[in-house]
Amino acid sequence: MKRISVLNGVNLGALGTRRPEVYGSRTLADIEEWISAEFPGGVEFDFRQTDYEGEMVGWVREAGRSSDGLVINPGAWTHYSYALHDALEAVEVPKVEAHLSNIHAREDWRRHSVVSPAVDATVVGMGVFGYKVAVSYVLERLGRV
Ligand code: DQA
Repeated sequence: MKRISVLNGVNLGALGTRRPEVYGSRTLADIEEWISAEFPGGVEFDFRQTDYEGEMVGWVREAGRSSDGLVINPGAWTHYSYALHDALEAVEVPKVEAHLSNIHAREDWRRHSVVSPAVDATVVGMGVFGYKVAVSYVLERLGRV
């Protein structure tokens, strides 16, 4: 059984009502349920969301110790959190940065991710399907596909 942490950052707890035209109408709980259903058996998910940067840094470190892989959507921290970059850089499990929206097709400030250099791969603009792609990649890296 592989354990994968799926960590969502700032403002992602508001999915469902937050700009549904950009992020879709599913809540984070709906999305987590859907991801679990897409990988029946064989994967144990640790789903978490926080609006506190320090808490997320702790969870990233914890995932490095107690999970086999990591998928993270840092929300707006993507664009400025060097603390999150440094936490991710120190984690050695397969790790993917996922974004629901296509950050390259939006405001200029969203085009740059300071965390991307610290992860193995990024997924943008695929909506919730991006989480499935990210988890599939982690499993591939773990030799499970
Ligand atoms: C996001 C993109 C970020 O720019 C934004 O701040 C978010 C969500 C995405 O999933 O598309 O909160 O990470």
